[in-house]
Amino acid sequence: MELANKHTLRTMSASAPQMPTPSPAKPLVFALVGCGAIAPTQAQALKELPALAKLTHCVDLDEARAEAFAKKYDLKVASWTDVLADKSIDAIALCTPSGNHGALGAEALRAGKHVIIEKPLEVSVAACDALLAAQRASGRRLAVISQHRFDPASQAVRRLLLEKSLGGLIAADVRIPWYRTQEYYDSGDWRGTWALDGGGCLMNQGVHTVDLMLWLCGPVREVYARTATAAHERIEVEDLVCATLSFANGAIGTLFASTAAYPGFPVSLALHGTAGSAVLEGDELKTLAIKGRETITGPAASAHALQVATGGTRSAVQNAAAAPQNLTDPAAWKWGDAHRAQFADFINAIHENRPSLVEGEAGRAAVALIQAIYESARTGLPVSL
Ligand SMILES: NC(=O)c1ccc[n+]([C@@H]2O[C@H](COP(=O)([O-])OP(=O)(O)OC[C@H]3O[C@@H](n4cnc5c(N)ncnc54)[C@H](O)[C@@H]3O)[C@@H](O)[C@H]2O)c1
Repeated sequence: MELANKHTLRTMSASAPQMPTPSPAKPLVFALVGCGAIAPTQAQALKELPALAKLTHCVDLDEARAEAFAKKYDLKVASWTDVLADKSIDAIALCTPSGNHGALGAEALRAGKHVIIEKPLEVSVAACDALLAAQRASGRRLAVISQHRFDPASQAVRRLLLEKSLGGLIAADVRIPWYRTQEYYDSGDWRGTWALDGGGCLMNQGVHTVDLMLWLCGPVREVYARTATAAHERIEVEDLVCATLSFANGAIGTLFASTAAYPGFPVSLALHGTAGSAVLEGDELKTLAIKGRETITGPAASAHALQVATGGTRSAVQNAAAAPQNLTDPAAWKWGDAHRAQFADFINAIHENRPSLVEGEAGRAAVALIQAIYESARTGLPVSL
């Protein structure tokens, strides 16, 4: 992502392992594994990056599903073992249930593939650690999809915070008041199970916002939480979470997550600093209020935030407009664009032998926080990270 490259908007600073880099002139060849609900978004994103990526194969345990998917996206159906053995395939896009990301991801890394895994990275810290160990041994790149980091509004707020335009962060109020029907949970054996979903509204739906919050606000030091299963049947996991958070930088926060808040409301992150506030709602910056400046609300706020964060220079905003994802026009941003931006960043990171914006370690950090929240709810005690 051009903006991220230019301004190093990344959490990762660890030195990248040495790895073979395909020629930038040659698109990275992908196989997609798990042709379910999220797979079309990934296939479309890869298709829209013809200079960088070529999706050639798909794999699914359900043969009919794989055949239909292959037909739609003009792919070859392959078995998992064939994909691993096929030297023409550089990378695996893993879209299987969350609790088998670790085993499949590690196998792919050992077979010499770069791996990009749908969120969450895995469903436990131990499984994340095993996967990260496999990555270090392989020297290949491992990323986890957390596409909302690539939304223009998220990028703008990240820059505001890095440049201290809101002063020091003092509080975060984070809400994920979503709704999922009983049919949603009944639609797959793995949904709502500890073994394969790893949790409910927080591990599955909320992990996006947890990652975004950690990226924007920094690590959490301590949590105290309550969870409940209030509005669904036949699920092992929670559909409500309330937590208080203490961040390492001294800020405090609240986190509410749900799949029981009928009919569902937009995600929001309200971030308050000593010099102002930024409120992300949906995928947009809804309000930007900085002491001594005009408060901006609505779609103009993201573009304005970029201007503020770059010292008010119009040229920096105009430069950003030239970036492939059109970062100054949140109104034009649509579902799928952020996946495409993340794939572009992942592929460029491989070519440039640098960390991508959302490395495996970031996926582990989100899972660690969610597990700490579950532990606090289970024990009734605060949990330190
Ligand atoms: N980034 C996002 O916004 C987003 C949205 C939805 C889902 N997800 C994530 O994507 C992953 C998949 O979710 P989904 O909703 O697409 O699930 P899904 O149940 O619709 O699809 C999963 C597919 O994987 C296949 N599968 C299972 N085990 C397999 C194996 N060992 N080898 C090959 N195929 C296998 C299943 O047959 C199924 O077709 C989950 O980790 C989920 O959290 C991310």
